[in-house]
Amino acid sequence: MSQLRGKRFWLIGASAGIGRHLALSLAEQGATLVVSARNEAALAQLLVEMENARGVAPLSGDHEAIPLDVSTRASVSEAFSRVGHIDGMIYCAGAYEPMSARQPDLDSLETIVEVNLIGVLRILAHCVPTLCQQNAGHVVLVGSISGYRGLPNAWGYGATKAAMIHLAENLRCDLLGTDIHVQVCNPGFVSTRLTEKNAFDMPFIMSPEAAARRIVKGMKRKHKFEIAFPWAMVTLLKCLAILPYFFFFRLMKLIRRKFGPSS
Ligand SMILES: NC(=O)c1ccc[n+]([C@@H]2O[C@H](COP(=O)([O-])OP(=O)(O)OC[C@H]3O[C@@H](n4cnc5c(N)ncnc54)[C@H](OP(=O)(O)O)[C@@H]3O)[C@@H](O)[C@H]2O)c1
Repeated sequence: MSQLRGKRFWLIGASAGIGRHLALSLAEQGATLVVSARNEAALAQLLVEMENARGVAPLSGDHEAIPLDVSTRASVSEAFSRVGHIDGMIYCAGAYEPMSARQPDLDSLETIVEVNLIGVLRILAHCVPTLCQQNAGHVVLVGSISGYRGLPNAWGYGATKAAMIHLAENLRCDLLGTDIHVQVCNPGFVSTRLTEKNAFDMPFIMSPEAAARRIVKGMKRKHKFEIAFPWAMVTLLKCLAILPYFFFFRLMKLIRRKFGPSS
């Protein structure tokens, strides 16, 4: 089991949902957090809650909030210049709109790609060289089990999550032989403002608190590449991912017939 106590993590996407609860859980473990997102008031409130949540006193200073918009290069550079020494970076920022290719919304699609894909590349372009200089570090990229296969109504979002998994694999390969550990976290449905947009029943949906606990547990086993949960959804989606195209598209057609043209 790896130690999180005393480690300084930069957590991007910490103002709400999974990231917010992950910050609280890591603070409870005695890690020090630099929390980032756009909503400054939510970050300030989180700092107060993290101080209260401290289970074990951190060994490396106080928690800090650095507001940031990952969709602009200047904002990422400015934030990185203020972050200082970090032992790890967690990318949990995300944007989502349920969307079918039949009714594309280009503004939303561009936001999804900016936040979920270009944003993480901007952050990694700053962090990875620094971690390489240290020859030590921990990178966690939050993807999704929806990235395993092209699914209905995930136009744009699914592609960015598949790209996130791919990116984490690239990074792990490129950093083999260093002491920099790379993990991808693929959650199933988690109850946040993001999933509030879904009009369908979400099987095995879990609370953000429970998701954060699962991520912390996975981060302690940093040699394990993928942190994925809940197991039932992961197994189902992994089976779909290895299904030959002939059967996969037949199944999708059946599902579409059952749930109508919008599914
Ligand atoms: N909820 C699920 O079921 C689920 C399942 C699988 C994967 N995920 C992934 O988990 C991650 C967190 O999702 P969530 O459900 O916790 O969503 P959420 O509650 O909407 O939180 C998203 C976070 O991303 C930040 N963010 C969005 N745009 C940003 C930008 N331009 N710059 C900086 N930060 C930005 C938000 O902060 P501000 O608005 O303050 O900027 C917020 O802190 C996402 O990557 C999502 O795709 C979620």
